[in-house]
Amino acid sequence: MSKLNRPRNLVLTGFMGTGKTTVAQFVAAATGLHFVDMDDEIVASMGMSIPQIFAAVGESGFRLQERRTCERLAAGSGQVIATGGGALVNAETLALMEDKGLVICLTAAPEVIESRLGDMEGRPLAPNWAMLLRERQLAYDRIRHQIDTTHKSPQQVAEEVIALWQSFQ
Ligand code: S3P
Repeated sequence: MSKLNRPRNLVLTGFMGTGKTTVAQFVAAATGLHFVDMDDEIVASMGMSIPQIFAAVGESGFRLQERRTCERLAAGSGQVIATGGGALVNAETLALMEDKGLVICLTAAPEVIESRLGDMEGRPLAPNWAMLLRERQLAYDRIRHQIDTTHKSPQQVAEEVIALWQSFQ
């Protein structure tokens, strides 16, 4: 890839419990990229927690806000962005992030996801996780770059992410 086309942002996506936020923090510390957590951006802009947003405007209202946040972040550069688990399930939103960014989908075995979701607090859709994962599988599968996090530490995953990012710089 020529320098002109190199990706401006590194975007970590994937299902709940695949370690997007933790890995993005490690990547930011090691690379100097600016860490952005998409859910935190939405919480700050709406002045409500994720469960409060779902209660107030429903999932569709949350998705609308998520889409706007994707548009804003995709226009920036030098960021490592941890998306919410459902943010790039929409093909158009994925295309928006892939246009100027390197999008990597983190995956994990279902039993690992279940154990990482713990008490599910703060994640309104987590009780339904197994069905949601099945419904979204094809959407995650269409992302070109995938890293399986099962049995890996966040540091190990971050190293793989950084190696891929550097191969595009
Ligand atoms: C969601 C995942 C959450 C958060 C919201 C909806 C989803 O983010 O955006 O609860 O639809 O998968 P994490 O994947 O960071 O838990």
